[in-house]
Amino acid sequence: MDIVVSGIRSTGNLHLGNYFGAIRNFVKMQEENHCYFFIADYHSLTTHPTPANLHQSVKTVLVEFLACGLDPEKATLYIQSDVPEVAELYLLLNMNAYLGELERCTSFKEKIRTQPNNVNAALLTYPTLMAADIIIHKAHKVPVGKDQEQHLEMTRTFASRFNRMYGVDYFPEPVAYNFGQELVKIPGLDGGQKMSKSDNENSAIFLADSPEAIRKKVMKAVTDAGPTEPNQPKPQAIENIFQLLQIFSSSDTYTHFNELYNRCEIRYGDLKKQLAEDITTYTRPFRERMEDLERDDVFLGRVAKIGAEKARESAAKTIREVREIIGFRSM
Ligand code: TYM
Repeated sequence: MDIVVSGIRSTGNLHLGNYFGAIRNFVKMQEENHCYFFIADYHSLTTHPTPANLHQSVKTVLVEFLACGLDPEKATLYIQSDVPEVAELYLLLNMNAYLGELERCTSFKEKIRTQPNNVNAALLTYPTLMAADIIIHKAHKVPVGKDQEQHLEMTRTFASRFNRMYGVDYFPEPVAYNFGQELVKIPGLDGGQKMSKSDNENSAIFLADSPEAIRKKVMKAVTDAGPTEPNQPKPQAIENIFQLLQIFSSSDTYTHFNELYNRCEIRYGDLKKQLAEDITTYTRPFRERMEDLERDDVFLGRVAKIGAEKARESAAKTIREVREIIGFRSM
């Protein structure tokens, strides 16, 4: 049976990108694999949340995991910081992670550009922590969106480097997993290529958004003055909206608006109203389940405790073996 590991940063609510890029695959994978899904709260410290915010964000993601159908009986659901073995493996991997390769990482270069006043060491070593998350359970498959592919490549590098260095065949080299289709990328509403929370709040629709919030965001989505000639290719921002329509609306609706576009008769206001309605219909059941779970602290506490115990068991075994391989042996 394959071992599957994946995580989501605890930066508040899940957006549609997280759901389609990751969670939906987690839900499918928990049926037939040995799965570990966690909330990456160590990772979220790079942006310095307050203790109250950190706690609330972790709770929110746990609620959303469960509302999306992750089942603590089928998969191990846990909070990253409940498993300190991860931090030890991170330290050990950092000994063989080189400045050049870490600096070349696209996500690091992006952070230097977007937050020049907070380029901390953990941003540089983000890929080694992520590698530790994955290989601590000796994972084979990692369900993630396209934006994480480079991090996975680095995870394979660190895993195989460890094996080579100590002459062992210990860590498997994990691959991104996506059920055979291309990895899904959910575009942003701001004209950007991917829906992302950190870039722009208005770019992302959250599973928890009210119908009113969804309508406001969709109505504000970036469009243009409309096509001037029939059958022209769509600019990126327009393509994004049509992609969302393809995912959330019926194929008739998609065809209808696509034909209007090709005839230069499109009215973006009508299209957006329809899209907002269809997204609302899609997310409503999630929102309702979240409202119930949010109130059930006893249940959430139990899920987190059981998950932590199972995850620690697997992580502690790896750390014991890794220490032995490295040469930390008892006197
Ligand atoms: P994060 O929290 O940014 O995103 C969580 C998951 O959602 C996917 N995703 C998307 N997929 C499609 N379209 C989008 N617009 C979109 N936006 C986000 C991401 O690819 C990801 O799968 N570093 C990770 C968290 C992490 C992790 C790990 C993941 C920490 N350790 C170990 C896997 C394994 C992150 O920041 O994802």
